[in-house]
Amino acid sequence: MTELVARPRTYLMCPPAHFAVEYVINPWMDPAADVSAATALNQWSGLVDTLRELGHTVFTIEPEAGLPDMVFAANGSFTVDGKVYGAKFRYEQRQAEAGAYEKWFRAQGWTFTPATETNEGEGDFVYLPERGLILGGYGFRTDARGVAEAAEVLGRPVVPLKLVDPRFYHLDTALASLSDDNIVYYPGAFSEASQAILRQLFPDAVIADDADALAFGLNLVSDGKNVVLNTEADGLAAKLEAAGFTTVRVELAELKKSGGSVKCCIAELRD
Ligand code: ARG
Repeated sequence: MTELVARPRTYLMCPPAHFAVEYVINPWMDPAADVSAATALNQWSGLVDTLRELGHTVFTIEPEAGLPDMVFAANGSFTVDGKVYGAKFRYEQRQAEAGAYEKWFRAQGWTFTPATETNEGEGDFVYLPERGLILGGYGFRTDARGVAEAAEVLGRPVVPLKLVDPRFYHLDTALASLSDDNIVYYPGAFSEASQAILRQLFPDAVIADDADALAFGLNLVSDGKNVVLNTEADGLAAKLEAAGFTTVRVELAELKKSGGSVKCCIAELRD
């Protein structure tokens, strides 16, 4: 086994000050459920502390009232090589988030390209620096044209992967990068052809099962050595430990009520 090395990351996150489940745009959301923004904020702060203790830099963006899903910062942008491809949300309820993220990036001096095609940012894109390769999920939120537009804006090859299970509606609910060239994924979330592509590209991938995916275990962040994932995902944590990773667990049950976990809260900033 090659030695796993941690590389410090820079992340953008948004505190869930206005978090709520008020509409249904994925099978996990139930507006009748008891949801607490205070609990969400508390759990989210635990995630921020964990990331900083691991040596990562966390920037935050101001949350906006009336945008209860803005905590899911992964969906607001996708950055590679110092370039930002803006988001264009599938559902009306989240569309104003794109402008809030655009404003943040422009104020920080990033080269920003607004999207003309529907795409939900890093929720549907994964970057593997060692290969210079982007994986692009489509089928529920990001449009196949958004996957193609990402290649055009960012100048990196993008492998389109078709998502077929509505419970795993964003790529980051079914697949995550573990290192600069390897991934973990749940095959059942992908079309047969996309599964064949993943097997071809990643023969050494860690394979997750139904229980791992349902626990939102795939919705993790890794720095190449330390993997941060939620407290529910015991099975996946054990598999990752067996593969040589150090797992760090965070409680994010409140955010799962909206269909999100660790990775959804985080956009990596790659300059
Ligand atoms: N309620 C949000 C939505 O359905 C959750 C987004 C989760 N984000 C993610 N990157 N998977 O849009």
